[in-house]
Amino acid sequence: SVAVLHTVQQVRQWHSEQKSQGRRIGFVATMGALHDGHLSLVSAAAQRSDSVVVSIFVNPAQFAPHEDLDKYPRTLDQDIEKLKTTSVSPEPLRIAVFAPSVAEMYPRGISTHRDKQRGTFVEVLGLSEMLEGGTRPHFFRGVATVVSKLFHIVMPDITVFGQKDVQQCCVVRAMVTDLHFPLTLVVAPTVRDKDDGLALSSRNVYLTSEQRARAPAFYRGMCYARDLYNSGITDREALIAAVRQEAQKGGLDIEYISLTSPDDLSEIQEVKDGGAVLSGAWRMGSTRLIDNILLGFG
Ligand code: PAJ
Repeated sequence: SVAVLHTVQQVRQWHSEQKSQGRRIGFVATMGALHDGHLSLVSAAAQRSDSVVVSIFVNPAQFAPHEDLDKYPRTLDQDIEKLKTTSVSPEPLRIAVFAPSVAEMYPRGISTHRDKQRGTFVEVLGLSEMLEGGTRPHFFRGVATVVSKLFHIVMPDITVFGQKDVQQCCVVRAMVTDLHFPLTLVVAPTVRDKDDGLALSSRNVYLTSEQRARAPAFYRGMCYARDLYNSGITDREALIAAVRQEAQKGGLDIEYISLTSPDDLSEIQEVKDGGAVLSGAWRMGSTRLIDNILLGFG
């Protein structure tokens, strides 16, 4: 069954009902336009809890003025339908959708970088400035702020985030530690198109069919880099060049390709025992996509 909740008050009520039954609560934060990647997180949460909250909220605080806040896909009815009909194991599963308004989430007004001087923010310094934060300066402040608000509202025992957004996982993990959130953070693997490996994303709907056909070149490049790594090549430039070459064959407009330490996301010259994150972003028309893989983790 799927309960649809719109207010903080309703979530608190639902939470106390679940807790009075002794249930463990799982939580998946999303911006909606749900796809199989999101649903895999719901399954992963369900495997570790008794009732799952899925939040659906397009968070204005993590969008820059030139970004796609207004055109971001909003498909609440279909999202609820997907959660009702898709068999997430184990069944039967109790799901609550939390779909708040902007006013409900930001009761004193919306906090964006345009309005920097007032409001409460959570900032995870040292993990938010590079990579995605490099081109999106206030992005992780928006993410950390809304995720901490959602954790306070939902009070989950466990939460699942997707590896697809690897830096987001690092930022949230650090925040959970620093702010003593009493929950377990689980990172679930990236779900990809089964034919060409493109990472599923709500933003893939923006792609024309011609762009969609070229988009998997980045992942193909990362797979070549992984082959090189598995054959003994650990040098940064060689691994990045493999991605770049394949991405350029696909005509992708690369924003960055990066090889970092999985612990603190600092750039590395060579993959050592601790493994590495190979990641990047590229543009196709006005659409910006990201992806990553791990090297040295089995
Ligand atoms: P959104 O992009 O909707 O993603 C919600 C969650 O789904 C994130 O944890 C993301 O990593 C995960 N996800 C997206 N695509 C995936 C895929 N192909 N495979 C596996 N997991 C995938 O990330 C956000 O929303 C927002 O920043 C949010 C955390 C909700 C804060 O506003």
